Amino acid sequence: MNAENNIQTINIGILGFGTVGQGTWKHLEENDKFWAKILGVELIPQRASVRSIEKARNVKISDSALTTDSLSIVDDPEIDLICELIGGIEEAKILTLHAFEKGKSVVTANKALICEHGDELFEAAEKAGVQYGFEASVAGGIPIIKVLRESMVANEFPLIYGILNGTSNYILTRMEREGVSFEDVLTDARELGYVEADEALDLDGVDAAHKAVILAYLAHGIWVNLEDITVEGIRRISTEDLQAARKLGCKIKLIGVIRRNFENNHISVGVYPALVPMDEIIARTDGVYNGISLTGSVVGTVVLTGRGAGQDPTAGSVISDIVDLVKAKKGISGAVKLRHVTPNECKPAKAVEIQGSFYLRLTVEDRPGQLAKVADCLAEHEVSLATVSQRPKSKSATSTVILTTHDTNEHSMNMAIQSLETLQGVIEKPVLFRVFDPNAVSKG
Ligand code: HSE
Repeated sequence: MNAENNIQTINIGILGFGTVGQGTWKHLEENDKFWAKILGVELIPQRASVRSIEKARNVKISDSALTTDSLSIVDDPEIDLICELIGGIEEAKILTLHAFEKGKSVVTANKALICEHGDELFEAAEKAGVQYGFEASVAGGIPIIKVLRESMVANEFPLIYGILNGTSNYILTRMEREGVSFEDVLTDARELGYVEADEALDLDGVDAAHKAVILAYLAHGIWVNLEDITVEGIRRISTEDLQAARKLGCKIKLIGVIRRNFENNHISVGVYPALVPMDEIIARTDGVYNGISLTGSVVGTVVLTGRGAGQDPTAGSVISDIVDLVKAKKGISGAVKLRHVTPNECKPAKAVEIQGSFYLRLTVEDRPGQLAKVADCLAEHEVSLATVSQRPKSKSATSTVILTTHDTNEHSMNMAIQSLETLQGVIEKPVLFRVFDPNAVSKG
C-alpha cells in the first residue's frame, strides 16, 4: 500500500533483463501515473535479474535493483508478480513453477517453453490458483492471444495461417525487392541484431513452429507435438524462386498453417515456405512484420498484422498481460477504466491545424488559359499544385482536370474551393478528397 495516497501497489520482478525485460521496465516506469489511474493500483518494477550487474544498459536502473540470482526475486516476499523473460527452457521452467508454488502469477514471452511444457505449466498455474500470461509469446506486439481467446470466442477455426517469424520475413522481403542473395541479407540481419543466437530458430522455421503449436492449442485445445509436424525453413529459397513466384501472382512467405477439418476432426499444423497469392494480406505483409489470418466460423476472416518482435512492441504485450493479471488479482472485472482526460491533457484540433495534401477534380471549359486561371486561384490561397492531368471530354467543349496539391491546411483549401466555385469556366462544383498520409502530424 502506498501510504501517501492510499493506492495499492503491485511490485514486479523481472527475470532476464535483455531487450524485452528492459523495455518492460522502461514502459512501466514511464507511464506509472497512467497505470494507477486506470487500475487504481500502482505497478512498480522493483527488481530484475541479469547475467552481469556491471554491463552498461540503456534503461536507468539502480544496481541495488539488480541481482544475478533469479530465484531470489521469485522468493522475495515483497515481489507480487513475476515476468519471466530469460528465455530458454530448463531454468525458465523451474523458476515459473516455483513462482506458481509461491502463489505468484507469471507473465512470459517464452514460446519455446510454452510449446514444450505448456500443458504442465497451465495445469500447475491452475492448481496454484494463479495466472500465466503469455500474450508476448506469439507475434510480439500483435494481440493475437487475446483476440483468439476472448474477442473471437464465438468462433471455430477451420484455418489460421500467417507469418510468425519477423527475421525470416525480413530476409525474404529484401531478397525479393532487391534481388540480394540469402547469405548477403542474412549478414545484414545479423548486424542489425535480428537473428536469434540459435539461428536455426529463425532460419529453419523452429521459432514459427513454436508459435504455431501455441496457436493450435488455443484454437483447438490440443497440444501438437513439434516432432510430428512439418517444419521447413527458408535456406533453400533463391531470388530466382521469389521472382518466379511474382510472375505467378504470388509471394513466397514462410507461413505457419493450422487447418482443422471439422468433418473428420483432423488437425494439421505445419511451418513451411509457400507461394501465397498476392491478393492475400499475408502476401503483402513484408519486412520484419508478422501477420496472422484467422478464419472463424462466425465472423469470417480477420487479419492482424504488426511488429512481431522488438523491444517496445513485445514489452507492450507483456504489460497488457500484467494489467490483466493485476485485474484478476484485485478482482477488477471487465475492461480497465476509460481513459478520461482533462482539456489540458488533450483537446480536439481545429480544421486549420490539420495539414495534408488534396485531390481535386474539376470540370472546366476547354479553352486556352483555363488551367492557368485555376492555378492562380489556388495560389491566391497559398495552395500549391503537385500534379496536374487533363482529359478532354469527347464531343463537348469541357474537360476534366485532376489536380493534387502539396501539403496545405483545410482552411486554405476550403477558401480555394469557394473561389473555384465562382471562377469563370469552372462548370460543376469541384470534387475534393483528402490524400491520406499515415505519417501526417496534426499541427496545433
Ligand atoms: N526471432 C523472432 C522473430 C523474435 O524474428 O520473429 C520474436 O519471436
